[in-house]
Amino acid sequence: MPPSTDVRRPRPVRGERLELSIESLAHGGSGVARRDGYVVFVRGGVPGDRVIAEVAKSKRAYAEARLVELVEPAGDRVEPRAPHPGAPWQVLPYERQLAEKEAQVRDALSRLGGFEQSPVEPIVPALERWRYRNKVEYSFGIEDSGSLVLGFHRPGRFDRIDPVADDVLASEAVNAVRERALEWCRAEGLSAWDRRSGAGLLRNLVVREGRRTGRVQARLVTSAGELRVPELAAAAGADSFLWTRTGGVAETTRDGETMTVSGEAALEEELQVLGARLRFAVSAEAFFQTNTDMAEVLYGAAADLAALTGRERVFDLFCGIGTISLAFATAAGEVWGVELVPEAVDDARRNARANSIDNAHFAVGDVRRSLRPLLEEAGPPDVVVIDPPRAGLSAKVVRRVLETAARRIVYVSCNPTTLAPNARQLVDGGYRLETVRPVDMFPQTPHIECVALLERET
Ligand SMILES: C[S@@+](CC[C@H](N)C(=O)[O-])C[C@H]1O[C@@H](n2cnc3c(N)ncnc32)[C@H](O)[C@@H]1O
Repeated sequence: MPPSTDVRRPRPVRGERLELSIESLAHGGSGVARRDGYVVFVRGGVPGDRVIAEVAKSKRAYAEARLVELVEPAGDRVEPRAPHPGAPWQVLPYERQLAEKEAQVRDALSRLGGFEQSPVEPIVPALERWRYRNKVEYSFGIEDSGSLVLGFHRPGRFDRIDPVADDVLASEAVNAVRERALEWCRAEGLSAWDRRSGAGLLRNLVVREGRRTGRVQARLVTSAGELRVPELAAAAGADSFLWTRTGGVAETTRDGETMTVSGEAALEEELQVLGARLRFAVSAEAFFQTNTDMAEVLYGAAADLAALTGRERVFDLFCGIGTISLAFATAAGEVWGVELVPEAVDDARRNARANSIDNAHFAVGDVRRSLRPLLEEAGPPDVVVIDPPRAGLSAKVVRRVLETAARRIVYVSCNPTTLAPNARQLVDGGYRLETVRPVDMFPQTPHIECVALLERET
């Protein structure tokens, strides 16, 4: 379709279609195009594409648009394996994805951290490029035809769910559980939760897989209401089945009451780090790295940078179920983990016992308030490991970390745009940024993981 309303206004309006050339990729993965200097972020566009894009949001400084037609594809565009809103970079050759991620880490450190000569190492490629995810959250919805679907949110739409035929980031086993659960729910004539009206029953199906143990767990999330859930559990064919009921209005799988319908409540997984094979029980509420193979590589890199000799006292902040804590405990003097989610800390303690590790201690708490008491109780650490959520560290947490005066800080980050300013704050507080090692945990997606080492200036 020709660009009907591409008049040269400085600021386009919502719904307007623009013909654009994509120049680069932004943090977050959208293509960047310019129109008389005005920036348009185009979801689905990659550098070298000439596209028609429809404006979804228009602001004074920039607009957001989605690709509606490829006028001329970039020379190195590749055919996507299957439509998947969570895998927008599958149109880029893998080597290009890696180069782009490495460049984005450098860019963030320079622009947002002021590190002109940032010590970024070559990115560590993923071991598996497809079907690597050990956890997927699917959403129920209704297609235009009126039939029940179980898939992903249409990008930019909170109320529309597109079906998924083959989730190319999940294993065949996870795909099969999703298909069987959907088939059963369709046959029962069950309704999907309507994200506009709040009516309807079925919200999400969260499928988790222990990649080393072969165990698959499914968790159905519904609104208040009844269904023959033991029959659904049997039909889905997972090793364990949980049911969460919530009255919440927000699209989240974390609210509500969860009951175990069949099998174990926690999923079993194994990780091999620093030569030790560790077994983990992961409860439904707890965080676990979504790529098991690459979690081993990531934690191995963190351990490598921590340079443990067997004597160190380590603080593991944002420790989750204790994966890093327990791996480090096998090579350090003692480890102290802090984590906000009580269920995750229960898992961490149970995991320590199950692996016969007695030099790892865990506390439930907000890092912001727990670090000073921990410092008093445990004494000053030699190494602090930080693995925060995407938002990174607040200025206050940075100050608390500086108070520990640890010799080394190992910062595991899933967001270079927050790692960069945090690294700058730590450097301003007396540390040297020694190295940043990007690790590709998430092929086919724009997500970037890094491990950074900061050493105290003496
Ligand atoms: C990226 S995950 C890392 C977990 C763990 N290190 C791992 O590798 O599995 C971040 C963790 O921080 C926890 N968290 C978030 N905010 C927190 C806070 N203010 N204080 C303590 N923990 C927090 C989350 O519950 C989550 O478990």
